[in-house]
Amino acid sequence: MNDCNNPLTGLEEWEEFLKQRYPEPETRSSAKTFEAANPEKKKEAFRNYETAARPSVREFYRLNHRYQTYEFGQGKRKEFLSLNRRQMGVWEALEYLNTLVDDSDPDTDLSQLDHLLQTAEQIRRDGQPRWFILAGLIHDLGKILCLYGEPQWAVVGDTFPVGCAWSERIVFHQFFEDNPDSRQAAYQTRLGVYGEHCGLDNVRMSWGHDEYLFHVVKDYLPPEALHMIRYHSFYPAHRDGEYTFLMNEQDREMFKWVRAFNPYDLYTKSHARPNLTELRPFYDELIREYFPASLRW
Ligand SMILES: [Fe+2]
Repeated sequence: MNDCNNPLTGLEEWEEFLKQRYPEPETRSSAKTFEAANPEKKKEAFRNYETAARPSVREFYRLNHRYQTYEFGQGKRKEFLSLNRRQMGVWEALEYLNTLVDDSDPDTDLSQLDHLLQTAEQIRRDGQPRWFILAGLIHDLGKILCLYGEPQWAVVGDTFPVGCAWSERIVFHQFFEDNPDSRQAAYQTRLGVYGEHCGLDNVRMSWGHDEYLFHVVKDYLPPEALHMIRYHSFYPAHRDGEYTFLMNEQDREMFKWVRAFNPYDLYTKSHARPNLTELRPFYDELIREYFPASLRW
């Protein structure tokens, strides 16, 4: 997949980098475990991850930060959110995503579907609610944007609000210097075009697979699951505690679930290939419980 617009060998490379930045803690008993004790230390560690990042990952973030402007996201919303590209059911979409071949998974030859099933199965083993399991199964379906020919930097990457100042805690912050929004005074204040605690629903996020999938499924899942889907790549907020001034009461409540989901997203990939034949009936039923037979994509 790599060319100058797609520097990563595959989307996995971005996720591997996330795991280096946010290593798995010793115990996974509570979301609290993930809050760092010393913010200064954390900042320093962050810079080290940047220095150690592979050139492909660095280049990926350079493109992402250079091109994800307020206007770019507006354009992509117009282009994709009429949802008139395909009609398909959720399982069909999983199989479609599975045609996206990722060469970069360092030591397994598991498919996108295998990874999503591993995530969902771990959530299920932990006795989480059924909508949580379902959200785990589908959370990356928005990556089908790649199959529509979208570049990697417009599909994955840590997401962040556009239309206001970029948090210093966003990884590779220096690359925002080349973003045209850096010269738009209205976008460079703390609040930018937003009001204090206006709620994330009123905030434009950088464009990617999270936002796209949210719009496909928004009529069918409970708000907790929708927040998990829409903000699972919003690392500056759910891992680094930034942008709370844009959140309202509901966001603060819902972010407990976004944080609860993150370890499943980052740490459940294993070598064990899920047994599709055995699992399919459970997931067919789960999908039927929440979704119609066909959805607009
Ligand atoms: Fe994702």
